[in-house]
Amino acid sequence: MTYAIQAEGLVKRYGETRALDGVDLLVPQGRLLGVLGPNGAGKTTAVRILATLLRPDAGTALVGGYDVTSQAHQVRSLIGLTGQYAAVDEMLTGVENLVMIGRLLGMTRADSRARAGELLERFDLSDAGGRAAKTYSGGMRRRLDLAASLVGRPQVLFLDEPTTGLDPRSRTDLWSVVRGLMADGVTVLLTTQYLEEADQLADDIVVFDHGRVIAFGTSDQLKATTGAQVLEVRPSQAEHLDLVGKVLADVLGEIPDLSGGRATASVHDPATVPAIVRRLDEQGVIASELALRKSSLDEVFLAITGHLPEDEETPDKEEAFA
Ligand SMILES: Nc1ncnc2c1ncn2[C@@H]1O[C@H](COP(=O)(O)OP(=O)(O)OP(=O)(O)O)[C@@H](O)[C@H]1O
Ligand SMILES: [Mg+2]
Repeated sequence: MTYAIQAEGLVKRYGETRALDGVDLLVPQGRLLGVLGPNGAGKTTAVRILATLLRPDAGTALVGGYDVTSQAHQVRSLIGLTGQYAAVDEMLTGVENLVMIGRLLGMTRADSRARAGELLERFDLSDAGGRAAKTYSGGMRRRLDLAASLVGRPQVLFLDEPTTGLDPRSRTDLWSVVRGLMADGVTVLLTTQYLEEADQLADDIVVFDHGRVIAFGTSDQLKATTGAQVLEVRPSQAEHLDLVGKVLADVLGEIPDLSGGRATASVHDPATVPAIVRRLDEQGVIASELALRKSSLDEVFLAITGHLPEDEETPDKEEAFA
């Protein structure tokens, strides 16, 4: 298999802080690796090293077969980067931003303009292309930023939290753009704090915590690490919740979570579910919601680290879009 990204033992220290503490990454060509982790986990540091913007203190990384430290120039010619904070020039229009990048990449004026038009169209920005970027909404800037990273038709694309701060609609729009890139054969490394995002887009997922990879696998493999599915039962009458909790505890041998008006418990053997349904029926409990699902990545993170990603710090990214 050909790997577009191969990193081994990456270390980056800032004083006492080990932003990266021995990270290995492998991304096969044409695949999307989701790097999932809470604030301060080391995601941006890893992206900056792979994108040749930062030198590692130890370890090696190859992108497209080129070494990111000794062959940075070659690496730069085949990558695109959408940083965590929108990097568009506020004073320039959408078209001007993209044309400028094309020119910097050595494209002719005509080619740059053609590429700009094509990308604005693709990102639904054609109408806004003549307006200064400072008049754009956060979502529009994010799209322009992503368009900017695609001007040079990169083989490998780094997207650092591309949807942080976007509303759900803009987020799903951006997901479909990313899927389009994957269909074109682009290799993507995408960082995110959103478990759902990694679940939606990624072929493989690595989970970062405190500068280390604490888990690796496909979304399904990671979900399987909790060794369980999850049963959720919401009684149609709220006063039946304790009774539902008792039935689940009796059958599953585990105290369920009773928050949010429903009982939630891990199920290790799906064959126990019919027994639960029978017991609920005998007790006269009607369920308005009864679902057996795979563990969410949130639950996986909790199982691996003992805490939820949000527990670390409060995300404070909004100012980037102010
Ligand atoms: N230039 C720097 N100087 C000092 N410490 C830094 C620097 N850059 C990063 N760090 C520290 O390294 C750690 C990892 O930071 P990094 O930005 O890579 O995390 P992240 O996973 O991208 O977080 P977020 O989700 O908040 O963007 C953090 O503890 C951060 O404070
Ligand atoms: Mg970051």
